[in-house]
Amino acid sequence: MKRPVPLILSIESSCDDSGAAVLRGREVLSNVVYSQTVHEAYGGVVPELASRAHSQTVVPTVRAAMAQAGVAFSDLDAVAATEGPGLLGSLLVGHGTAKALAQSLGLPFIGVHHIQAHVLAHSLIEPGIQDRTLEGFPFLALVVSGGHTQLFDVRAPFDFQLLGGTLDDAVGEAFDKAAKMFGLPYPGGPEVDRRAELGNPQRFAFSRMQTPGLDFSYSGLKTSILYAIAKEQKQRPDTLETDLNDWCASARAALIQPLLDRLDRALKPEHRYAVLAGGVAANRLLRREFAAWGTARGIDVGIPPLSYATDNAAMIGAVAYYAFEEGRFSDLGRAASARLEVPSPAHG
Ligand code: KG4
Ligand code: ZN
Repeated sequence: MKRPVPLILSIESSCDDSGAAVLRGREVLSNVVYSQTVHEAYGGVVPELASRAHSQTVVPTVRAAMAQAGVAFSDLDAVAATEGPGLLGSLLVGHGTAKALAQSLGLPFIGVHHIQAHVLAHSLIEPGIQDRTLEGFPFLALVVSGGHTQLFDVRAPFDFQLLGGTLDDAVGEAFDKAAKMFGLPYPGGPEVDRRAELGNPQRFAFSRMQTPGLDFSYSGLKTSILYAIAKEQKQRPDTLETDLNDWCASARAALIQPLLDRLDRALKPEHRYAVLAGGVAANRLLRREFAAWGTARGIDVGIPPLSYATDNAAMIGAVAYYAFEEGRFSDLGRAASARLEVPSPAHG
């Protein structure tokens, strides 16, 4: 007899987005995200405020996801939540809520690694959002967000081999810092990208990233942008007003290029495809270059729709589905953790 496809409720609360989603297998029935706006006035996420906001939004977000999916709590087969990494106070809210629901409903609980979820989001099916999925292992994954810049060789759903990571700033953080130098409000990454579409990427030159192998280092590039602005301002004091689009285009090109260089170096014939994941996957240049790289190398590429690139709960459900199929349930005594190793047999 064929096993029934599991119905799983997932919750995401690792940073400043409260998410809840219901999946039947890999099919997304609902994916609700409530993005906190309280941080805008502070130029960055304030952990205490984020945690408090999650406490207020988690129940309405879960209710909305259940209502949109048209299912009852009694229909569920499991409850999942992000276990880490992330802001501890924020994680505790979603993780604790999911454990309480699992216990009261007598269902298994699944604690999920946030980065694994970003990567496995390419396996989700949602009509009109992601109709075509890539399947099979191993594949190559590039994770780019405000907190992470990592390249993984993904051997199996729970076997992630880290090939390279950042030695200092993450690429999203570097975008936000460049934006700040250009006088743009936080988080400036999307605005740098928007303006870059209108500018000349060859107008200003910065130093190239020097790290060998597959690692990244964005702090040198950041300093190089700062020096280039200061130098130009000596000749043209109003350059940041008159040439802002060219500054954005030049910085964007310099920030994106190292990602593609390392991706190309990491690719092996055994990789069945390559996926992009995380908030910076929204970047227009990166999306175009990633697709062009795939065509040039003759490899399929997965570029997430925007609703799966930024933090969301459907991606938590993608991992929960694999976990459910493999019988990998979490003990209700498990705690959320700000730092969490990516799943691999080496980490147990
Ligand atoms: O994955 P994400 O939503 O949150 C975490 O960091 O976990 O990523 C947010 C980061 C921010 O640094 C934001 O500036 C950057 O992604 N970002 C972009 C773009 N959209 C978001 N950076 C460059 N171009 C974009 N279009
Ligand atoms: Zn994230």
